[in-house]
This record gives sequence, C-alpha cells and structure tokens, in this order.
Amino acid sequence: MGTLEGRVALVTGAARGQGRAHAARLAAEGADVVAIDVCRPISDTITYPAPTSEDLADTARQVEATGRKVLAREVDIRDLAALQQVVADAVEQFGRLDVVVANAGVLSWGRMFEMSEEQWDSVIDVNLNGTWRTLRAAVPAMIEAGNGGSIIVVSSSAGLKATPGNSHYAASKHGLVAITNSLALEVGEYGIRVNSIHPYSIGTPMVEPEAMMEIFAKYPTYLHSFSPMPFHPVNHDGKKGLQEFMTAEEVSDVVAWLAGDGSSTISGSQIAVDRGTMKY
Ligand SMILES: NC(=O)c1ccc[n+]([C@@H]2O[C@H](COP(=O)([O-])OP(=O)(O)OC[C@H]3O[C@@H](n4cnc5c(N)ncnc54)[C@H](O)[C@@H]3O)[C@@H](O)[C@H]2O)c1
Repeated sequence: MGTLEGRVALVTGAARGQGRAHAARLAAEGADVVAIDVCRPISDTITYPAPTSEDLADTARQVEATGRKVLAREVDIRDLAALQQVVADAVEQFGRLDVVVANAGVLSWGRMFEMSEEQWDSVIDVNLNGTWRTLRAAVPAMIEAGNGGSIIVVSSSAGLKATPGNSHYAASKHGLVAITNSLALEVGEYGIRVNSIHPYSIGTPMVEPEAMMEIFAKYPTYLHSFSPMPFHPVNHDGKKGLQEFMTAEEVSDVVAWLAGDGSSTISGSQIAVDRGTMKY
C-alpha cells in the first residue's frame, strides 16, 4: 500500500521535468492523477523549447504503468475556465481531489530595467497569476469533497532570496510564498495543508546553462547569488561525487512526503530543496 492509496492528485506542468516526475511518483504512491500542461510555447521571450502533446502522453503512460488512472489534458494555467472544467471532470471521474502540486512555471533572463513588458508579464502571468488560478479552480472542489488534503506550491530558491538577472521570476516566486501562507490560514479549517517548496538547480529543460553563462559573463557579480551546492550526497543512481544538478525525482521525494499524512503537522512552511545552498 502506498501512502496515497485512494487519493487523487492534480499536477500542473506535468508534460516533462519535475511535474512529470511528481505525477509518476504520486501514482506510485497510489494516487490517481490529473496531469495538465500547456504543451506549447507561451511567449517568444521564453527561449528554451516547450514540451509537446506527445510529452504529456508519455507522462500519462508513466502514470498508467503504475496501475493508477490518469486524466491528462492540455490546459493553460492562465485560463481559469479551462482549469475549472478539468477539475470538474476530474471530480466526476475520480470522485474527489486531495492533492494539488502547482508546479507549472516559466523562466527567462535579463535585467529588470531593460526587459520588455511581454518578458515581465509572461513570467508573472504564468508563475504567479496562473498558480492563483490553479488554486482558485481546485480549492473549492477540495473543500466540497470534504476529505481535507495537501497543496504543494512550487516556488524556488528565487522565492526566498534576490536573483539578479531574473527579478520577474523572483518576484513571481516570492509572491507564491504569500499565496502559500495566506491560503494555509484560509483553508486550515477544512483540513487542507498548504506548503511551498523551494528547489535549486534541478536538471530540467528550464535550466539553460548557455543563457545563464551569457548573463554571468556580462554581469560577473551576479554569480554571488547563484552559489554552487555545498554538498553532494549519494544520489538515486547510487553515484557519489560532484553533481551539478539535483534530479526531478529527488524533488518528488519531498513532494510525496508533503502530499501524504507523514507531514500532517506541516502547513504554511517553506521547504528548501537545495542541499543547504540557501544558507550561503
Ligand atoms: N529547474 C530548476 O532548477 C528549478 C528550480 C526551482 C524551481 N523550479 C520550478 O519548478 C517548476 C517546474 O519546472 P521544471 O524545472 O520542471 O521546468 P520545465 O520547463 O521542464 O517544466 C515546466 C512545465 O510547465 C509547463 N507550463 C509552462 N507554462 C504553462 C502554462 N501557462 N500552463 C500550463 N503549463 C505550463 C511547461 O510546458 C513545462 O512542461 C517551475 O515552477 C519552476 O519555476 C525549477
């Protein structure tokens, strides 16, 4: 028996990267999964490639391979009506909603006093406003189901500290801390917990070493805000030694713990997933 047997989890940004890993891991713990992703580029200001419909279909196959059910749909988290529809369909199909992993997000680079309005707005609209819309669609259904639950908001180390070169991203991720902690107080009476996680350097397509190197070459002092990780424990693959990035699956361990009853006393917390890097 997994820790989430009989529960239902909604994961945004599930076509690849961390969202896919979380969907597969929550299913392995016994949850049926609602997996959504926009599956297309959302703005020319985002320079790394977007996932495709086939990527989301792969996630769905990974969930089904665990023996759990999946509802996969192409939804833009900036579209509240589409989010409300997928939540309604999920509740009709699965009968309840217990866990939300608000994970979808985008990143771009530039100085705040030089970037275009589109560059600023696209990051804020997805990461901050889209996460609010995700919660706006999901929370009433969770309350209605009456089973309590756990919401995991995916912020970033950039939600806890300054990150010169991506201030719009930092602004969006700091905003998610306010959303997390206010919502934790609003929904505590319904037995719903809300926490944010703050990963640092996870190996996914969002992290473009060339784009980062370009910024650091232009503005070398910014490097102080992006410390190397202080320790490198044995990883999931059993290899010890220098690992520049953590894996999405390592973040999923934390998400699965927050989703399940083992973290039942934890709400309104900011959980750093960074091997201690933020202490520099
Ligand atoms: N990779 C890192 O080092 C890192 C560090 C800290 C936080 N994060 C955060 O982790 C989360 C997951 O990112 P990732 O590293 O897996 O990158 P990723 O680019 O692989 O995954 C992000 C997913 O979100 C989806 N998405 C983007 N905009 C969307 C929208 N409007 N509607 C629906 N889906 C949308 C993308 O299509 C993509 O599949 C993001 O919120 C990111 O900001 C990443």
